[in-house]
Amino acid sequence: MARSRTVNTAQVHELLLQAIETERGGIQIYTTAIKAAVNKDLKKEWGEYLDETRTHEEVLTRVFEQLGMDTEEKSPGRSVVAHQGASLVKAIEMAMKSDTPEAAELVAAECVVLAETKDHQNWELIGKVVEQGGELAKVLEPAYKAVESDEDHHLYHTMGWCRELWIQSLGMPAVLPPPEEVKKVETAIGASRAEQSRDEMLGHKH
Ligand SMILES: [Fe+2]
Repeated sequence: MARSRTVNTAQVHELLLQAIETERGGIQIYTTAIKAAVNKDLKKEWGEYLDETRTHEEVLTRVFEQLGMDTEEKSPGRSVVAHQGASLVKAIEMAMKSDTPEAAELVAAECVVLAETKDHQNWELIGKVVEQGGELAKVLEPAYKAVESDEDHHLYHTMGWCRELWIQSLGMPAVLPPPEEVKKVETAIGASRAEQSRDEMLGHKH
């Protein structure tokens, strides 16, 4: 693996192993979540996220090639990520089998948020490594730039869907599609603003 003075390269190696496993888990989670989606807009959205997640896995595969890493290398941390991913798939299947379609959709949204929280963090950390410059950054920067904004959408928009679908299930007025979607949120601050605008958005609908 390429060297850099400022980062622990062994731990960057570990981060990349976890990152590719997270993307692979994401492909399985979206494939299952799409089956559980009741709302047509959400189903379509997750279909797009599934395609993007497949692209992320390919982007990382190229990073591995460039760094001379083996995409199938195992590590204890990677095994944990694989376990988490498989568990989230199982959780959605459990809900689809034993609960109402609306309840299974909520479980799927929660599982996507959990998976995307890890995925989003992986890429944020890759971005931090890029900031350090050096040989690693040369390889990681194009990958980071290609993927970063997708990850913001995947996390913040699905959090919005999850919240609004839950609110709808509680019998309260929901903003669907969620404010995060309408306002094309790409940052944590934007997500917070979008959430705060929901009353106003509900008002406009009445
Ligand atoms: Fe991703």
